[in-house]
Amino acid sequence: MSTAPARVDARAKVTGALRYGADRAPESVAYAAFAVATIARGRITGVDTEAALNLPGVRLVITRFDPDELTSPGFIMTGGYGFQSLQPLLDDRIAYRGQPIALVVADTPLAATEAAELITAAYEPEPAAFTLDAPGAETLVQAQAIPIPMFADTAVGDADAAFAAAPVQVDVEVSGPNQHQVPMELIGGVVEWHGDTLVVHEGTQNSGAVQNGLARQLGISPDRVQVISPSVGGGFGQKNSLQPHIGPLAIAARRLGRPVKLVLTRPQTFHQASFRPASRQRVRLGADSSGRLVAAIHEIDQQTSRHDLFPAMYTEVSSRFYGIGAFRGLQRLVRTDVQTPGYMRAPFEHIAAYAMESAVDEIAYATGRDPVELRLANDTAVDPVSGLPFSSRHVAECLRRGAERFGWAERSPRPRSMRGPDGTLIGWGVAIGAYPGSAAAAIARMSAHDTGTVEVAVAGHEMGQGIRTAIARLVADDLGIEIAAVKVGVGDTRSAPQHLTAGSWGTATALPAVHAALRDRLGVPRTGPVDMRAAVAATGGSRIEIEATSVARGQPADVVVDRLRKGLLAIAGPEYPEFVTFSHIAHFVEVRIEAATGRVRVPRVVSVADCGRVASPVTAASQVRGGVIWGIGATLREQSLVDPRYGGFLNPTMEEYPIPVSADVHRIDVDFIDEPDLLLNPVGVKGLGEVCMVGVSAAIGNALFHATGARFRRLPVRIEDVL
Ligand code: MOS
Repeated sequence: MSTAPARVDARAKVTGALRYGADRAPESVAYAAFAVATIARGRITGVDTEAALNLPGVRLVITRFDPDELTSPGFIMTGGYGFQSLQPLLDDRIAYRGQPIALVVADTPLAATEAAELITAAYEPEPAAFTLDAPGAETLVQAQAIPIPMFADTAVGDADAAFAAAPVQVDVEVSGPNQHQVPMELIGGVVEWHGDTLVVHEGTQNSGAVQNGLARQLGISPDRVQVISPSVGGGFGQKNSLQPHIGPLAIAARRLGRPVKLVLTRPQTFHQASFRPASRQRVRLGADSSGRLVAAIHEIDQQTSRHDLFPAMYTEVSSRFYGIGAFRGLQRLVRTDVQTPGYMRAPFEHIAAYAMESAVDEIAYATGRDPVELRLANDTAVDPVSGLPFSSRHVAECLRRGAERFGWAERSPRPRSMRGPDGTLIGWGVAIGAYPGSAAAAIARMSAHDTGTVEVAVAGHEMGQGIRTAIARLVADDLGIEIAAVKVGVGDTRSAPQHLTAGSWGTATALPAVHAALRDRLGVPRTGPVDMRAAVAATGGSRIEIEATSVARGQPADVVVDRLRKGLLAIAGPEYPEFVTFSHIAHFVEVRIEAATGRVRVPRVVSVADCGRVASPVTAASQVRGGVIWGIGATLREQSLVDPRYGGFLNPTMEEYPIPVSADVHRIDVDFIDEPDLLLNPVGVKGLGEVCMVGVSAAIGNALFHATGARFRRLPVRIEDVL
């Protein structure tokens, strides 16, 4: 059996041996940098590149691409491949501050950077809007603006009538800030031509979209594009589609006959890639006097760009938190002059949970019920939206186990009633989280060698979450071989078609395909180890090659496999033909507020997650700790400050964008229900990466109320709000 190391890439990670996209250093590589717009909206009337071109070492400055050589990759949410539809350097329009206006390529990174800074432009500026309420911001009803069923408003029963008749009502408004994903690994990569084949090493969550999107942009066959994303130094949604630097690099590399590398600066990652859009939510929640929830109305305004509609999907999850018989959702999009916002870990669910679970806490106080008890009383085994059962739902067990581990029974319910010896206010809060259980089509390719080694390649990207470890463990356990004998390849279009790894579907996508290869094609007996060398020898050759495809429940196999091969979304869920799947979690949080300074600490968190079978215990627990830390950051720290006059973000560096540091992180106690969901797939895995962040903010907010008696409606909650 496998003597499983905690994670298969641990040694490579901590010794620096692990390779990331931009680590690639080919012979004669040249370095690129962008010059960027200093206005947020308008037209460019001229670009002065003379000083840049005169700088020693500068080889190329491009201010405009010919439409025959580069086109838009299309927006990923409308059948394209890019994080936005707008490809810079194609025309004279400026749509956001920080948009590239020229690409410089030089012999050294220093020369490229210096030259980019020497480039100036003349503009015809136009009035621009940067916030939800700015003059010129345009509000659209999503269901009308994007008339497809997936983006329709959720409606169950007559929520307005049920709310009006409810004896207990709460009305909560919450405003959510702009935030950025700020992965440690900056955005970047290396592009090189090997003959007429384009080879791209890039930190991406979606090498399939990079491959197919580049082919579209350049007008070449996808067979001539290879994308290699060996390891990603954090993605969190920001690297989930084709970035607009790669097409320009491909052309520069062709013109120069040299490989070209580009790594965006940290401030440029704030302005040239996606981010969490600003949002405003209103939740009205009605209950009877016993605290049974009878009506919910959830309305959202979410920022988008002028050129794309980034869809809002808040009510998909808020309508499923409890068994509420009447629910009405309304999602509006607000066009502003920014690059297109996008997915950032738990993109809708985190902030939706803050509003919903704050409102539920208020109902608990209004009805005199314990917040855990009230949640247990409103749990449901049936999805209130579709009427279908949940394939699995262990919310109650998460709450019960979490309450026990946390010591919730010791809580004194009255706000401001718990204090430390020095006058520190202590608050205990609880909230639940949910996240859709999705899965994509995948093809697994496996080869077993007479050396005893098994190689497996499948769709997936290693962003630090541990997907390599989860895959290696499955293979090692099923075959009864050492985990060290399993070599896992992910993120590489040369070895298997690659799909976006996001939406917490990575494990539930890769493992069923690998499982299918093991079970169906290798004929693995479910008991006892397999002698792989003997199995290979029996074939008379030196290796066995296997390929297997898996699709999610109810997916038309030919359609989704074709989409997978084209680098398009090939996902199903959370609604399947016979059931609905969500992952769940319960968080219990203690906050302590220093009396004199108002400083908030989070000394203790207990999180109990229901993600189906736990495929890799150590990396799963790390995922949950990371998600909780993200929740602490989102509640008490993180905000990308908008410049309301000139656009762009004012704090686009790691020094100025405050994320939690080690001193902010204390005990995070993690537990799992660990019950396989065998309806969803034969491996029994749901998803974990995002649900672990959902509800953390609400639990902290509810703890802050318990500590102070005040509700905080605007995130992040800062010292000046608490004092
Ligand atoms: Mo994630 S925000 O779906 O990459």
